[in-house]
Amino acid sequence: MNIRDAATHGTLSTFALPWASNRSETSALTLRDWLAHLAKTGRLATIERPVALEHELAAIAKRLDGTQAAFFTQPGGKGVPVVSGFMSKRGWIAEALGVEEAGLLARFSAAVAQPVASRVVDRADAPCQEIVHTNGIDLHALLPIPTHSEHDNGPYITAGLVIARNPRTGVQNVSINRIQVHGPDRMAILLLPRHLYAFQRDAEAAGDALDVAIVIGVDPLTMLASQAITPIDHDELEIAGALHGAPLPVARCVTSGVHVPAFAEIVIEGRILPNVREPEGPFGEFPKYYSAKEAREVIEVTAVTHRRDPIFHTIVPAEMEHLLLGAIPREATLLAHLQRSHPAVKDVHLSVGGVCRYHLWVQFDKKREGEAKNVILCAFGAHYDIKQVVVVDTDVNVHDPAEIEWAIATRFQADRDLVVIAGAQGSPLDPSTTVGQPDDAPSHLQGVSAKMGLDATRPVVYPEHVFTRVRIPGQDTVDLHALVAADNSAFDAYVSRDHG
Ligand SMILES: Cc1cc2nc3c(=O)[nH]c(=O)nc-3n(C[C@H](O)[C@H](O)[C@H](O)COP(=O)(O)O)c2cc1C
Repeated sequence: MNIRDAATHGTLSTFALPWASNRSETSALTLRDWLAHLAKTGRLATIERPVALEHELAAIAKRLDGTQAAFFTQPGGKGVPVVSGFMSKRGWIAEALGVEEAGLLARFSAAVAQPVASRVVDRADAPCQEIVHTNGIDLHALLPIPTHSEHDNGPYITAGLVIARNPRTGVQNVSINRIQVHGPDRMAILLLPRHLYAFQRDAEAAGDALDVAIVIGVDPLTMLASQAITPIDHDELEIAGALHGAPLPVARCVTSGVHVPAFAEIVIEGRILPNVREPEGPFGEFPKYYSAKEAREVIEVTAVTHRRDPIFHTIVPAEMEHLLLGAIPREATLLAHLQRSHPAVKDVHLSVGGVCRYHLWVQFDKKREGEAKNVILCAFGAHYDIKQVVVVDTDVNVHDPAEIEWAIATRFQADRDLVVIAGAQGSPLDPSTTVGQPDDAPSHLQGVSAKMGLDATRPVVYPEHVFTRVRIPGQDTVDLHALVAADNSAFDAYVSRDHG
């Protein structure tokens, strides 16, 4: 069974990934392996000129987003290079997973279903702890932390995997959270109400700090695994293990019991302090608007560990790396959720124009009238971020915006096929949900949103050809290579004939 079949059938045995030819029994796939693969295939741009950490670095990375990863050798005059944009294309992420794009969601879902326990290694086998700082920590002196967007309130860590243990059960959780570095050893973190938030609230209720590790510079599979939508007490590092096809080597932090990927570049260890809040923001977020300055939880840093020559990873907010990292695990979860009630759902896509969060396109093999509306309602319940759903037939490619628009243009009637639900919970980061609210509206009033569903499917039964898509027999099979001449000499000769 090849990797694609394994993904399709949901089985995960050890397999070879094309960019991991050097992997041995004791090593793991690393960020460096992936960057070397991108470099070899013309997808890594090295910027050797010194660049400013404030805006300039992000501006260059943004210009390269989706075409090449950016590797800065001298950011902010620091000796630590910065990389950005190494997962900024859907095809690259599929390649990292060893599947075709069409197999991406199945592969990810199979890893979520069959996690692989991590393997604890000694410090001597953990490159992320080659260098250890525990005294007089100054993050600004140690690390090149960029300021990204115009109105951001200073430098932010945007690509840190935040790892913590559930204080009730001891099971780890991984998420990415934006972190503003506002002191030499002090940072403010945005915790939206999910697992890390729950851990912090539990610890706080007991008057305890919550140990956390912020892991910067891991391979694309571990980055992707961090975004899995799972029930609480599922350690996403075990999903990373499944995606690697081998247990992920992890090391114990030097100042806490948290386990971190041993082959990471940099780890910041710390504690989220109980009952302490400090201002964070504004910050340019994924919807391409700013989040306001608000009081947030605070991390006090206890140690920084890193490789001898570390690489710092930054994600430019709202660019493709940010959007795709969230989109693919969500699509996998949404597809599984919809298929539980509607097995005839074939594929889903979170569109880029909908910031890979708000607009869901669903491909569905409709057999009875009305079913598409049930699919729409099911999708609204799957994740509060979903604001607009378009359901199309199986002859429409949900990965192509022009095809979706064509289906709406030709199969949808607003008085008949539109579903609107008022006053539901939506994304608090969608600025249109705040219209009419005071600036200081409490969090329980934020993000109230209408939902819109469009049934753009054709009727199950229709008069001959009314909804038959025009196609030309042979359009997909003609052999242009054999038919088209190497040059236009026959054309030139024809138009230059002298008829006297
Ligand atoms: C680049 C990036 C930045 C993110 N920033 C935040 C953030 O600041 N706060 C937050 O709660 N979630 C943020 N997320 C989303 C969470 O990491 C994601 O929902 C994760 O799956 C939550 O994990 P959990 O459900 O295990 O807690 C971010 C995601 C990405 C890809």
